Amino acid sequence: MLSATRNHMSPSSWLNDNRKAAADELFEFLRIPSISARSEHKADVTRAADWLAEKLTSAGMTAEVLPTAGHPIVIGEWRGAGPKAPTYLVYGHYDVQPVEPLELWHSPPFEPQVRDGRIYARGSVDDKGQLYLHVKALQAHLAVNGKLPVNVILLAEGEEEVGSEHLSVFIEQHARRLACDGVIISDSSMFAPGLPSILFSLRGMTYLQIDVEGPGSDLHSGSYGGAVVNPATTLAHIIASFHDADRRVAVKGFYDKVVEWEGDVRSQIRALPFREEGFREEAGAPALGGEAGYSTLERIWTRPTLEVNGLLSGYTGEGAKTVLPSKAMAKVSCRLVPDQAPDEIAALVTDHVRRMAPPEVTVTVTPLSSGRPWRARLEGVLFEAGRRALKRAFGKEPVLAGEGGSIPVVGDFQRILGAPVLLMGFGLPGENAHAPDEWMAVENYEKGMLAASALWEELATG
Ligand code: BES
Ligand code: MN
Ligand code: MN
Repeated sequence: MLSATRNHMSPSSWLNDNRKAAADELFEFLRIPSISARSEHKADVTRAADWLAEKLTSAGMTAEVLPTAGHPIVIGEWRGAGPKAPTYLVYGHYDVQPVEPLELWHSPPFEPQVRDGRIYARGSVDDKGQLYLHVKALQAHLAVNGKLPVNVILLAEGEEEVGSEHLSVFIEQHARRLACDGVIISDSSMFAPGLPSILFSLRGMTYLQIDVEGPGSDLHSGSYGGAVVNPATTLAHIIASFHDADRRVAVKGFYDKVVEWEGDVRSQIRALPFREEGFREEAGAPALGGEAGYSTLERIWTRPTLEVNGLLSGYTGEGAKTVLPSKAMAKVSCRLVPDQAPDEIAALVTDHVRRMAPPEVTVTVTPLSSGRPWRARLEGVLFEAGRRALKRAFGKEPVLAGEGGSIPVVGDFQRILGAPVLLMGFGLPGENAHAPDEWMAVENYEKGMLAASALWEELATG
């Protein structure tokens, strides 16, 4: 009976027949609040790792949960294609972002709900849905054919949303086990609905905290103001010095290693179906603005930034309180493009802040996390197979798109394993990743499974 079904079915018809289970299982995964940033959720993060390992085992792979100094790494393997066959690694993350502000969610973040063809839940699109669709695609092949055409490693981490601190060392230490011919990642978005996309770039990042300390405690701003230097004013002054009137970053040396993009890439970017007005609306901003001389997509994909992510100082409660704050703090991050090095940029920004700091306060800069920028080689077996697989699942030739966000490990995969990386994501614009009401389109979850499944077939023939 089993072998008869095996002969008849294709992985894609298996996936069609098992859509309900694929949704139910994803919902179980989404119910685990695996917030990596919060220590009170440490056990939940581990529970999500264990849950995933269990599902990999039922899919027919071997699975292990490996501890790190932070959250665990899950490795699933299927090596039945033998040592002469190529090996591909699928990467994703099972951790999610915090959910605040909770009151803005229309349904609780960890109680997944389908509304208007969208799965609403924290982690639905970033990245549990996009990771789990790969598990189902692998399971489809193993269920129907009893094998895969290549060897497969699935690596899922639980620290992506906090900077993948322990992953590069892990990859270095396990480089032999993780050796592969290519890496496949679904942790990004399509350029538009119905338009499958392959990414040609990610920005890198370096994240810093700036602390300005003045008097030992808050002071009466009448008795002391004017005679004691104000840490909040000082921090504002430092922050104001980060950009010039053209909204370029004014940190010395910041642009020295920035590679200008080739004319043909810039014209490809201009050819994409992009409406500034639609983007503005989606952002909910009164108007768009950025570095002079570049279009919106160029600003996001090809140019580096320095952004203030958070600010804290003084009295911010109800009414007026006349106080001179004892300290001020800012969180600041730079998005980086090739060939900027995160550590070098961190050093340049730190120097800039130190030069701006007056002697009457203490200013410290603490690096928090970093990741290298990345650009794809848009050629080779994996890229071509990805292209064909997306076309089969969506009925449309994929477009090439850039990305302003970061996936810190991508540069490491390329550098440590020497493997090309294929980024084929199934999110959509407006998906609210990291925000209230995060969602993933049911259609993209299902077509994503079909694309992931087709990819294994394309890699067999490729
Ligand atoms: N999946 C995102 C990366 C991403 C963002 C892809 C936007 C496509 C569109 C990833 O989970 C993420 O949020 N990365 C962080 C990295 C940071 C925590 C080091 C980011 O970009 O802020
Ligand atoms: Mn992600
Ligand atoms: Mn994310």
